[in-house]
Amino acid sequence: MRLKDNIIVVKIGGSTFTPDSPEAARRGQLDTSLEDVVALHREGMRPVVVHGGGKDITAWQERLGLSAQFERGLRVTDRGGLEVAVAVLAGLVNKELVAALTALGGRALGLSGADGGLIRGRIKDPALGYVGEIVSVDPTPLSLAWDMGCIPVVAPLGLGEGTLLNINADTAAGEIALALGAPLLFLTDVPGVIDDKGEVMGRLTAAEARRLITSGVISQGMIPKVEACLRAAEGGTYAQIVNGGKPHVLIRALEGRMVGTKVVRG
Ligand SMILES: Nc1ncnc2c1ncn2[C@@H]1O[C@H](COP(=O)(O)OP(=O)(O)OP(=O)(O)O)[C@@H](O)[C@H]1O
Ligand SMILES: [Mg+2]
Repeated sequence: MRLKDNIIVVKIGGSTFTPDSPEAARRGQLDTSLEDVVALHREGMRPVVVHGGGKDITAWQERLGLSAQFERGLRVTDRGGLEVAVAVLAGLVNKELVAALTALGGRALGLSGADGGLIRGRIKDPALGYVGEIVSVDPTPLSLAWDMGCIPVVAPLGLGEGTLLNINADTAAGEIALALGAPLLFLTDVPGVIDDKGEVMGRLTAAEARRLITSGVISQGMIPKVEACLRAAEGGTYAQIVNGGKPHVLIRALEGRMVGTKVVRG
C-alpha cells in the first residue's frame, strides 16, 4: 500500500470495540487494532482513528427509556437522540478509545467532527432529524494533533447551521480519507464483503458493488462502508474492509497482504 504523507485513516467499528459488553471485551482481548495503531504511530506514521458507536447509543437510549428507530440503516435522530449520540460518541466511546490507546503506550487526542471545524454538514433529510450529510472536511485539527505527537481519535459528529449533527461513522471516515488523499481501512466484525455464495470477495469493483447493493447481498451496516470505499476509490485513494478481530490485520493490510476486501474503481 502506498501511503501519501504516511497518513492512514482507520475506522474502528463499534462491533470490535464495545467496552460495556462482556462478549466484546472477550473479543477485545484478541483485537490488536489499537496496538497496531500505536505501533504505526511510533514508527512515524500518521494514523487517524474514526470510530462508530451505534450499539452504545442504542444501549444508552434503552437505559434512558428512549427507543432507537432506523430508516434505511440511518438512526432517526430527534433532539433527545442527538443528545444521547453526542454524549455517547464524543464522550464515552471517544474517551474510552483515548484511554485504551494511552494504556497501550500511545498518545491520543480525542476530538469530534464538530471540533475545530473538522466536519461541516447539513441536515440530510428532515424526516431523519439531526442526521447530517457532510458538506466539507477541514483536516487542520488532525494536523495539529499529529504535530503535538498525538493520534487523533474522531467521533462522528458534524457542525451544521447552529446545531450539532449525528453523522454515520463510515461516511465520516470516507470523507476524511478523501480530504487527506489517504488510504482508508475499515476494521469490522466480518472478514470482508461476502458475496451471494457466502465467499469473501478479495476485490470489489464499483459496478459489482452497486449490483450487490441493489440485489440486497450487501445490506445494513455494510452499505455505508462500501459506499465510503467507492467515494474514496473515485478520489484515487485506496480502501479496504477487513476483520478487526484478526490479530495484526491492520499491519498485514498495510504490508499489502491479501486480507479482506479491496474496493477498486473499475
Ligand atoms: N455482503 C455483506 N458482507 C459482509 N457483511 C455484511 C454484508 N451485508 C451486510 N453485512 C453486515 O454488515 C455488518 C458490518 O457492519 P456494522 O455496521 O454492523 O459494523 P461496524 O460498522 O464495523 O460497527 P459500528 O456500526 O458499530 O461502527 C456485518 O456484521 C454484517 O452483518
Ligand atoms: Mg456500522
